[in-house]
Amino acid sequence: MIYSRIVGTGSYLPPRIVDNDELARRLDTSDAWIRERTGIARRHIADEHQASSDLALHASRKALDAAGVKAEDVDLIVVATSTPDYIFPSTACLLQAKLGIKGCAAFDVQAVCSGFVYGLAAADGFIKTGTAKRALVIGAEVFSRILDWDDRGTCVLFGDGAGAVVLSADAKPGIHASRLHADGSQVDMLSVPGNVSRGKIVGSPFLQMNGQGVFKFAVKVLDESARETLAAAGMTLEDVDWLIPHQANVRILEATARKLGLPREKLVVTVDHHGNTSAASVPLALDEYVRAGRIRQGQRLLLQGVGGGFTWGSTLVTL
Ligand code: ACO
Repeated sequence: MIYSRIVGTGSYLPPRIVDNDELARRLDTSDAWIRERTGIARRHIADEHQASSDLALHASRKALDAAGVKAEDVDLIVVATSTPDYIFPSTACLLQAKLGIKGCAAFDVQAVCSGFVYGLAAADGFIKTGTAKRALVIGAEVFSRILDWDDRGTCVLFGDGAGAVVLSADAKPGIHASRLHADGSQVDMLSVPGNVSRGKIVGSPFLQMNGQGVFKFAVKVLDESARETLAAAGMTLEDVDWLIPHQANVRILEATARKLGLPREKLVVTVDHHGNTSAASVPLALDEYVRAGRIRQGQRLLLQGVGGGFTWGSTLVTL
């Protein structure tokens, strides 16, 4: 049996930090309101010349270095993003060129904030079937480009960044189980309902959201998905060292941990200083905890995504 293992992690945050006070100087909001409702204190915002593929490149190089793998030995690139550089080619193809390699399969996954978990499950499938041996899986986003910066109800929530992992074929798991879901009937709860047609923007190019609807939906499906994935792997919450849910806001994360009965100290939280970076949030959080020596080799992690679509899913991993 072939399994896939995470053999290296990396991440990148653009240098510009925007704190809540900076937002409060131009919007009718306050540091106290944002912290109390979301737990977010600051976020990183990409320079206007930085695209998702640039953020992905930095994160990928760090993950490859950590894994001791050369870019030319990668045979699959999966980029999860809802803020691609172009309509086409995929950000994965642009990243491949920036890595200076060619020939390997490369494609994007569009599952919004669940994108990294979807991408990881897809790459795991490629490795298990022998189609790939060494995959780069990246979440990269410049959500700052699809926010209405005059809408205090949404723009305070998000940030830009990228996270990456190198997955390698191995005789031991690795990835134990993944479970993915979607419910397209919830399309209006969180969307950017626009496009480009005949040279013009059609619909809206800005993110819109039913905040309370998202909150309730996210807590419900994160709880269900954790239980389902653990059951599929024949494990229980006791077997989990760290829960890494999509970093939407601290209240969603803490409500999920409470519902699951998971101790707070097993919950990974980075949304306070990253904001919600959509598909990048899970690999960014993973890399930060790995580099801080908090998440260690041999520990068991439950990675969880939930986002627009609606989409959701979990992956259980031994590092
Ligand atoms: N500053 C000050 N006041 C604000 C702000 C702000 N940034 N944003 C909204 N308000 C106001 C509203 O206008 C409203 O004012 P009103 O009573 O005068 O009409 C009041 O605050 C209450 O608004 P609600 O929307 O009811 O506030 P709520 O307590 O629901 O908090 C929030 C809003 C933080 C968005 C919350 O619903 C939430 O966290 N939802 C989850 C959303 C989320 O995480 N989305 C991320 C994308 S989805 C994903 O990643 C899974």
